[in-house]
Amino acid sequence: MRSLLLLAAIGLAAAEDGLSGWLRYAPIKGAKGCHSKLPSAILTLNATEGSPVYTAGQELSQGISGIFGKELELNAAETRHGNGRDTTATVGTVHAYVDSNPDAAARLPELVDDGFYLDVSRGKVLILGQNERGALYGAFHYLSVLAQGNCSDFTLTSNPDAPIRWVNQWDNMQDGGTHGSVERGYGGDSIFFWDGKVRDDLTRAAQYARLLASIGLNAVVANNVNADAKTLTPENMDGLARIADVFRPYGVQLGVSLNFAAPETLGGLSSFDPLDETVINWWQGITDALYKRIPDMAGYLVKANSEGQPGPMTYNRTLAEGANMFAHTLKPYGGIILFRAFVYDHRTLNQTLDWKADRANAAGNYFDGLDDKFEDNVVIQIKNGPIDFQVREPVSPLFSHLVKTGAAIELQVSQEYLGQQAHLVYLAPMWKEILDFDFRVDGKPSRTSDIVGGKRFPRKLGGYAGVVNVGTNTTWLGSHLAMSNLYAYGRLAWDPSATSEGILQEWTKLTFSDDKKVLDVITKLSMESWPAYENYSGNLGIQTLTDILLGHYGPNPASQDGNPWGQWTRADADTIGMDRTVWNGTGFSGQYPPEIAAMYEDVATTPDNLLLWFHHVPYTQVLKSGKTVIQHFYDAHYAGSATAQTFPELWKTLKGRIDDERYEHVLYRLVYQAGHSLVWRDSVNTFYFNKSGIADTGGRVGNHPYRIEAEDMTLAGGYRRYDVSPFEAASGARCIVTADNSTTGTASTVLRDVKTGKYDVAVNYYDMALGNATWELYVGCKRVGRWKGDLEYNLGRAPSPYIDGQTASRVTFRGVKIKKGSTLKIVGRPDGLEPAPVDYISILPEGIVD
Ligand code: GCU
Repeated sequence: MRSLLLLAAIGLAAAEDGLSGWLRYAPIKGAKGCHSKLPSAILTLNATEGSPVYTAGQELSQGISGIFGKELELNAAETRHGNGRDTTATVGTVHAYVDSNPDAAARLPELVDDGFYLDVSRGKVLILGQNERGALYGAFHYLSVLAQGNCSDFTLTSNPDAPIRWVNQWDNMQDGGTHGSVERGYGGDSIFFWDGKVRDDLTRAAQYARLLASIGLNAVVANNVNADAKTLTPENMDGLARIADVFRPYGVQLGVSLNFAAPETLGGLSSFDPLDETVINWWQGITDALYKRIPDMAGYLVKANSEGQPGPMTYNRTLAEGANMFAHTLKPYGGIILFRAFVYDHRTLNQTLDWKADRANAAGNYFDGLDDKFEDNVVIQIKNGPIDFQVREPVSPLFSHLVKTGAAIELQVSQEYLGQQAHLVYLAPMWKEILDFDFRVDGKPSRTSDIVGGKRFPRKLGGYAGVVNVGTNTTWLGSHLAMSNLYAYGRLAWDPSATSEGILQEWTKLTFSDDKKVLDVITKLSMESWPAYENYSGNLGIQTLTDILLGHYGPNPASQDGNPWGQWTRADADTIGMDRTVWNGTGFSGQYPPEIAAMYEDVATTPDNLLLWFHHVPYTQVLKSGKTVIQHFYDAHYAGSATAQTFPELWKTLKGRIDDERYEHVLYRLVYQAGHSLVWRDSVNTFYFNKSGIADTGGRVGNHPYRIEAEDMTLAGGYRRYDVSPFEAASGARCIVTADNSTTGTASTVLRDVKTGKYDVAVNYYDMALGNATWELYVGCKRVGRWKGDLEYNLGRAPSPYIDGQTASRVTFRGVKIKKGSTLKIVGRPDGLEPAPVDYISILPEGIVD
């Protein structure tokens, strides 16, 4: 036994690359003490290899072996071995169980589709699913309880809150498609597609399905919402069928994203009008061809008339007419269509000419009057907020408009606007606020979760769609800690009443360990992360303030305005915010049911955290907190970035308590985040200070006593001064760069005003994705450090070729001994087109961050 555990431990140590996520089945403390409470055999009530019940048996055997070092006899129903034994784990559907145990029927609880029942009693374990998938979910649940160190007896009946618990992957068929291989994905290339085809090796796709099944997710749309019509060539449909084949043992169904214009672009028809008979027939042919290959296909996902995608409105048809065309083709097969509410025109919105123009109004307007027009297998998939996954948005009012039509909430697990997995942001607390939001439809409790769960309005279909965007990286999402978001998404889609902290602790125990210190640190970090990110990115509902024209990463407040994308702040010298009131603004607040509309209509009753979302106010407007808007901006950015400084220090207390591989991987990101949070702080504060001319009462903004601006140093060799655009992305609006890509540059200065002592020396530089420059830092003749501009290989965040808030980064050398009067020198070696840019150097006495 000891050797088994030892082997397992060695195996695990070698495999801590994140690939198994929370399904590590790592040995637990006190494993032996549990042996008598564990089953000694497994009986699966379906012997068909590849069925979810069969998979459940395999998982139970693998899990119990890994966690406890106990090998179980694994039998299938046909053999009848082990049946009736006192210590057998029986797993199957209710139907199969009742078949051979008719008396049991009366004792079993009510289960809905995918639900399960667990009865664990001194080694005798009964795991029953309403369907095969439910049985597998039950097995995963039992294993999760065991892996968290609990081998006590219990019974549990668990039903999902909603039938639709889907994943959307924004995978392109081809690398170099919209934003690379996975649009807004930060964990590597697509696990499904390559070179315009479905990959031959779908091992990762199967592993993904396993992870998803373990948290109750039941379908994946594998191709991007910006769909490539070529997904539907016969060869690619064969490929999709192979994906469905590797999903099936895990009860995960495949969904397909469609390009509305495919009848024309792929089918060669002269139209894609959804009311045209030839178009309808063409789609019916496609649907038939897909179901022939994938009889259990989940259905379709469609992005129409949005961001340049074609749709029914091209032919003056309604969105309902467009959605229903697909619904009709799917009906004979029991398939459903998720039709996205993310419909808006990014070309015609005019900020300057039209005070009432508002992208947030689009979904409400386009779907107005359509509620009773959709077929019953259409579900409207609505992003949580009316704009686009910002750090804070009000909940989309469309949820309260669709009373007869099924609705699913679209949440984004991939942190597109929230740090792209290079920043830790645990999203469950944000999702909880959204799901718990009460619309007060007809003056009655109407929480978002009850609406999509089909409880508030009687509808049979509804639920959740999570944009996950994993990739080939072994961490899946590009960061180990970001996987808590995927886990939380699954858990909340199953049970929206679960708590953010409870989910996180469960995930931490499974992913790392149940060591109290590990739990405490990961809980603290994660629970502080969304508030911190909101503080240092965009406050008071102004949105994330990131660069919306380029990578959606890093600060660039000016990019929000002056373009038709409609993510406006309307900031000028005196005022800021979108007036979305009915009385004077875009009228958006009127899209909510009366009680909520009245709350948002009035500045006095609008919560501070959404003030600028609904109102256009002076910077001097006083908040409920007593601060002015501008002072809140300044303070929040200092507070948020200060919190981020504590993250790496907290993480370091876990050294030795988790494996080195994941420890280092996470530390690297938290150190980076701490540095980049300062870039955010300074950019946003400088920008609004410059715009408003109002000083920070704390005297911090624009005042950096510990900094040496690179442009003020003595430059030699290749270094030149350079004006940065946007100006706020550089301290003092300038940096230094080498004039060409072959001449090393030197910047030096004499530290006349620095007292002899020990300091932390921080260097802010820009790491562009155009090469790998190297920098060396010297104090006197001593080299303090050397680093490379290689973040693009280590972080999955969008690469950028510019010197801006996206590429601005910080490296810090701790405890550097400096003598008054010594010379500080930076040597920058350009590489490729990366000209070794440096912004400033901070000489920081202990405890100071500047
Ligand atoms: C965002 C995102 C796009 C995506 C779109 C969508 O705008 O940046 O990459 O295609 O949402 O949800 O359709």
